[in-house]
Amino acid sequence: VILTVTLNPALDLTYGVDTLVRHGTHRVRTVAARPGGKGLNVARVLHQLGEPVGATGLIGGGTGAEILALLADRPHAFAPVAGTSRRTVTVVDGDATGFWEPGPTVTPGEWASFRAHFAALLDGADVVVLSGSLPPGVPADGYAALVTAARAAGVPVILDADGEPLRHGVAAGPDVVKPNASELAAWWRTPPGGGDPYAAARRMRSAGAGAVIATRGAAGLLAVTPDGAWRAAPPQPVPGNPTGAGDACVAALARGLRHGTPWPQLVADAVALSAAAVTEPVAGSVHLPTYAHLRDTVVAEAAGPAAVPTEEC
Ligand SMILES: Nc1ncnc2c1ncn2[C@@H]1O[C@H](COP(=O)(O)OP(=O)(O)OP(=O)(O)O)[C@@H](O)[C@H]1O
Ligand SMILES: [Mg+2]
Repeated sequence: VILTVTLNPALDLTYGVDTLVRHGTHRVRTVAARPGGKGLNVARVLHQLGEPVGATGLIGGGTGAEILALLADRPHAFAPVAGTSRRTVTVVDGDATGFWEPGPTVTPGEWASFRAHFAALLDGADVVVLSGSLPPGVPADGYAALVTAARAAGVPVILDADGEPLRHGVAAGPDVVKPNASELAAWWRTPPGGGDPYAAARRMRSAGAGAVIATRGAAGLLAVTPDGAWRAAPPQPVPGNPTGAGDACVAALARGLRHGTPWPQLVADAVALSAAAVTEPVAGSVHLPTYAHLRDTVVAEAAGPAAVPTEEC
């Protein structure tokens, strides 16, 4: 199975209102509640593709119970924490305004128990996906510890993180890292849009990542891997909601690693699947006809050397 890790899952609430007014009181017209968190989005896309998937992470309180109830029909093995899992509230009035709770504070004991729980789950895992933010209390090298454990167990691991957790995680040597443009720029300490993303991706490999899949919104992605570098893009930008397109990309990468798909095919597949996530209004879901169409259309092009040229070192 593909094991997805969501350390800070959320009850994702969407409120539909007529017009959002700052300092106003609103009649909420529609309420939708879904399980949220990037690892759960990845799991949902994999499930839609018929791939065997299991979800783990940390969960707690009444909100945690609601999230688990919404996951009831899916295999999951979350570890309990004493605190209460977060809610993420999006107010939609045509445009979207978000309110993200921080999540529960995880104690050192809870984090130690989770690491033992995770190590046990590695036994049955073909691929591990680590994605999303860390709740308060989980150390910045939390993902690095999980990467190290997965590597020790011989399970390929994909990391989709930002900031310090990304920095530490890369150094632990994950097989695949998936930054978007701003995460890669921040990692390289260049302004977004500045710098050469190939050079940044090659540098990330030399810092420990096995392969770097740098996504670039509607411009597609570039991949710098041990077997070479490729780029691929959708034939044209797809209209819709790009939130969660990166999660669909990670789902494609996880499936490809599990099946040993060669990189050029995998890169093209990831572009097709993530574009099909844009067509869908909510994160964690792909539009299968769009995917089927784009899978036959998108091709990866070779894009230069994978190694760091000596002058960059
Ligand atoms: N408008 C679009 N049309 C077609 N494909 C898109 C579009 N936006 C994104 N994609 C595809 O989705 C991939 C991931 O997008 P992006 O770089 O925005 O990820 P992200 O910021 O990590 O997303 P998130 O974290 O919200 O899931 C891109 O590499 C591209 O292939
Ligand atoms: Mg992302």
